[in-house]
Amino acid sequence: MFEKLKQRWKVNGINLLLIITTFALGGSLCGYAGRKIMALTNIDKGTLWVVLYIILVTLLWPMAVLLVSYPLGQFGFFKRYIGRVFKRLGTDRGHDGFNRLTPDIRIAIFASGAGSNAQQIINHFSSSSSVKIALIVCNKPGAGILNIASQQGIPSLLIERERFFNGDNYLPELKAHQIDFIVLAGFLWKIPEALIKAYPKKMVNIHPALLPKYGGKGMFGHYVHEAVINNKEQESGITIHYVDELYDHGAVIFQAVCAVEDNDTATTLAQKIQVLEHTHFAKVIEDVLQK
Ligand code: GRF
Repeated sequence: MFEKLKQRWKVNGINLLLIITTFALGGSLCGYAGRKIMALTNIDKGTLWVVLYIILVTLLWPMAVLLVSYPLGQFGFFKRYIGRVFKRLGTDRGHDGFNRLTPDIRIAIFASGAGSNAQQIINHFSSSSSVKIALIVCNKPGAGILNIASQQGIPSLLIERERFFNGDNYLPELKAHQIDFIVLAGFLWKIPEALIKAYPKKMVNIHPALLPKYGGKGMFGHYVHEAVINNKEQESGITIHYVDELYDHGAVIFQAVCAVEDNDTATTLAQKIQVLEHTHFAKVIEDVLQK
């Protein structure tokens, strides 16, 4: 049971102990405060007393655990935990005003290639109770990512240029799937402004170089690595950034660096970069979601 909780909450043993202690102390504090407040009301101990007491402790509980969590160093965890509880109660309406019944943050991954990054992200969140990869969006029939989607039982959406750029940008489908957050993982089309506006600070991209260098139109795949090698750069890396109206331009969230050796080719550099991508991308997404 403890192992399951550690995995579910992504915490180590010590933090799990502190979290359980917070639950216990917060619960006791809340019960104690609830009884003291009820004593001030002079209501007889009957059905009404019980109903009011339950309502009172329900209201007091978040404050009590947050209070106790602070000295135990678990405030961040409980802030997120209580946020999720409120979502479950249906008070969260999502970015688009939907009243949702599910507690998850629902991610759409946009990809048009092999999908190795998408696969890592799917693996990373597969045991998450709060994040779900809910949709794969692809613009290339036959792309590897579509196989991954069907193997993993994730719905996929094959999109067409005309509707994406000049139509409704597939926003109705994204809404129908209750998408909260978009991850671009090897998606080569520019994102239309309306879509960016619909997901402010809720869309991230990964680029296989250290932006602002080697970004922009035409800078993708082996073109990036060839340019890095031709310019005799000493290092390259990855950039994870928010998406704005320009190619590879939004605010940088994270970068990781690798050395470019004299004997590196575009292929060997691509391999090094892919290791960095697979190591960091999903974790960075998780951090962004927790902000
Ligand atoms: C990655 O190198 C990523 O940086 C870039 O597109 C590539 C996608 O690779 N944006 P994969 O399809 O995830 O294997």
